Amino acid sequence: MKTYIVGNWKMNFTIGESSIYLHKLLKRIKPAKGMQVVIAPSPIALQPLSLQIDRKKMKLSAQNCCGKDFGAYTGETAIAQLRGIVDYCIVGHSERRYVFGETDNMIKEKVAACVRNNITPILCIGETESEKTFGETADVLKDQIETGLADVSAEDFKKVIIAYEPVWAISSVKGAKLASPDDIAASIKTIRGFLEKTYGKDAKDIPVLFGGSVNPDNAGAYLTIPGVNGLLIGGASLIADQFNDIIDVAKRVMS
Ligand code: PGA
Repeated sequence: MKTYIVGNWKMNFTIGESSIYLHKLLKRIKPAKGMQVVIAPSPIALQPLSLQIDRKKMKLSAQNCCGKDFGAYTGETAIAQLRGIVDYCIVGHSERRYVFGETDNMIKEKVAACVRNNITPILCIGETESEKTFGETADVLKDQIETGLADVSAEDFKKVIIAYEPVWAISSVKGAKLASPDDIAASIKTIRGFLEKTYGKDAKDIPVLFGGSVNPDNAGAYLTIPGVNGLLIGGASLIADQFNDIIDVAKRVMS
């Protein structure tokens, strides 16, 4: 199983800034064998960056897509339009769910659209602070996986990556807290248990990432939690030193 280090740039950088930043990353970053580095720039930067990126070093991801392939959907980008540009697409990020009101049904369509178009969806799941307080974490995670993967066939479930991101741990959320490795381990156990119940033993081949205020100091502890195969990084992925340091930590954990 590969170790995935995914940088989610969110709505940051102009096209020019994205290109300069990618140039810097390409010079610095030397991924280890068995490591997949992925960056998710703003949608406007994807096409130009696809011409600049060295795919042997890192791959491109979209941050979102439409669940339909072409048609009268003003303002949307079909994942079919991103074929040849990206290899991955983040789907159902908590900012899409809670800021833009995406429903589990919309997310289900997007996941299926990615799989249909040979682009790997990174399905984000995670409980809010109040769901955690009310002891609903396990149910929320199971529901989000069950609905998110409902239209993915039994042969295709290995084409999906899951990213567990507790909403209360995302650095840009007001009052964000660092998730403890114990908290995360319990949720990863729930996720892995549910995947195995649904897909059988082969479910162990589904990568599960962790995201939420990851930085070079905590990356090692998060990467050593059993069942975690990588990290989804927001804020720290915007700073070349930090992103590179996280990659170095991952190399040490892997060796
Ligand atoms: P963060 O963001 O690393 O800044 O908490 C993670 C994410 O939102 O994917």
